[in-house]
Amino acid sequence: MFTLETAATAAYVVAALLFILALAGLSKHETSRAGNTFGIAGMAVALIATIALALARHIEPLGLALLAAAMAIGAAIGLWRAKVVEMTGMPELIALLHSFVGLAAVLVGWNGYLHVEGDAAGAEAALLNSEGMLGIHSAEVVIGVFIGAVTFTGSIVANLKLSARIKSAPMMLPGKNLLNVGALVVFAALTVWFVIDPQLWLLAVVTVLALLLGWHLVASIGGGDMPVVVSMLNSYSGWAAAASGFLLGNDLLIITGALVGSSGAYLSYIMCKAMNRSFISVIAGGFGIEAGPADDKDYGEHREINAEGAAELLSSASSVIITPGYGMAVAQAQYGVADLTRKLRARGVNVRFGIHPVAGRLPGHMNVLLAEAKVPYDIVLEMDEINDDFADTDVVLVIGANDTVNPAASEDPGSPIAGMPVLTVWNANNVIVFKRSMASGYAGVQNPLFFRENTQMLFGDAKDRVDAINAELSVTERV
Ligand code: TAP
Repeated sequence: MFTLETAATAAYVVAALLFILALAGLSKHETSRAGNTFGIAGMAVALIATIALALARHIEPLGLALLAAAMAIGAAIGLWRAKVVEMTGMPELIALLHSFVGLAAVLVGWNGYLHVEGDAAGAEAALLNSEGMLGIHSAEVVIGVFIGAVTFTGSIVANLKLSARIKSAPMMLPGKNLLNVGALVVFAALTVWFVIDPQLWLLAVVTVLALLLGWHLVASIGGGDMPVVVSMLNSYSGWAAAASGFLLGNDLLIITGALVGSSGAYLSYIMCKAMNRSFISVIAGGFGIEAGPADDKDYGEHREINAEGAAELLSSASSVIITPGYGMAVAQAQYGVADLTRKLRARGVNVRFGIHPVAGRLPGHMNVLLAEAKVPYDIVLEMDEINDDFADTDVVLVIGANDTVNPAASEDPGSPIAGMPVLTVWNANNVIVFKRSMASGYAGVQNPLFFRENTQMLFGDAKDRVDAINAELSVTERV
């Protein structure tokens, strides 16, 4: 028989398929818009089905009013934030959103406890007890609360680090690895205890333990490893949502949580491989990573160039590689860079882009900016595709990149970013570095590239400097 319940189940299957199509679409530039549309459609179907289900189950008027108010407030804040957020502020916004998922999982878990275990004389507890399922419910509660609380505080620390409100350097408590492992062992023991005897104080202890562990895990990871932390928290938020799905008996939440959890874990794994970091070490809160010694080496003098000199060098080049980084995003220089690319290509120069997997502050950051400025996809290459070509390149323009072009990563085993693969720009004949000062990049590590013989610094805001070069090239075009 057709009921609203069966219609909602069918709608959940449709929404789940749309989410899978969204993930598939988002994996390529060309299909990413379609992927986004699938995601929005899936979420709309899921929301409508969930509200219809609540209505079919005769939700009380107060509950309905609360649901409508929560949706209206959430949608208004979401629309406002998405509208005003700068591209460079996306990672911290994402971290904040992950913290909401974590908090929601904690609240769902506590609610589950108060309704069932905490109300032993209630109908739900009696029903679950008669089916022998009470222990499973208690396990769902404690695991959901644990994952949610770790995600909550971990995401808040990530937000604070990414927005530079706290230092990005790793916090190094004595015996930090032992603390993490100890917390997990205590959690396992408390879980068993809670399943046997679900008492309120046990759940409270697990919540506090998980809040502290989440804080410590992310605070212990620093500098260059933060990209992995963001995708790892993405994964945790997925598992937290899946745990809530079990508690609420909502299949779609379980499926969506599992999709987010596994895709986030896979992304973290890919990023760890790209950065030559151990996946286990990063998810275990920087396990085995020690703080590097302070760098007080004397690298010598750097050379400077102005926009006119840079334009001259570019005019006589036949091959140019541009390696953009976070500074291009800050300066919003991508439009000028696209213009420069068009100008040079019109002169017959072979212009290509080299993109480091963690350039900027979020996966694919540079690709999004370049696509927005209409740089053709086929000249935008990944680090592995272009690294061998620097030696045959006349000029490399390093636009607001720093850590991702730091030779210390491959040449100095004592460097905090040692082992991280980087764009080998120094092999080119000439390197021009666009930045405002000699300051270090996100990882806080000095960059010997700036002092190499074939490197010249072009100081100033990247957009201003690129525009100035474009103006110079326009003049020579006319002459
Ligand atoms: P960074 O190492 O962050 O360096 C960016 C450089 O841009 C800075 O040295 C800065 O120097 C310069 N800059 C800033 N504003 C500028 C402006 N208006 N005009 C010109 N230059 C400007 O950049 P990167 O090479 O892209 O490396 C990314 C770093 O972020 C890595 O350490 C990575 O691990 C980390 N991270 C990445 C992600 C993801 S997923 N991509 C997420 C979190 C963290 P001045 O101040 O001297 O101008």
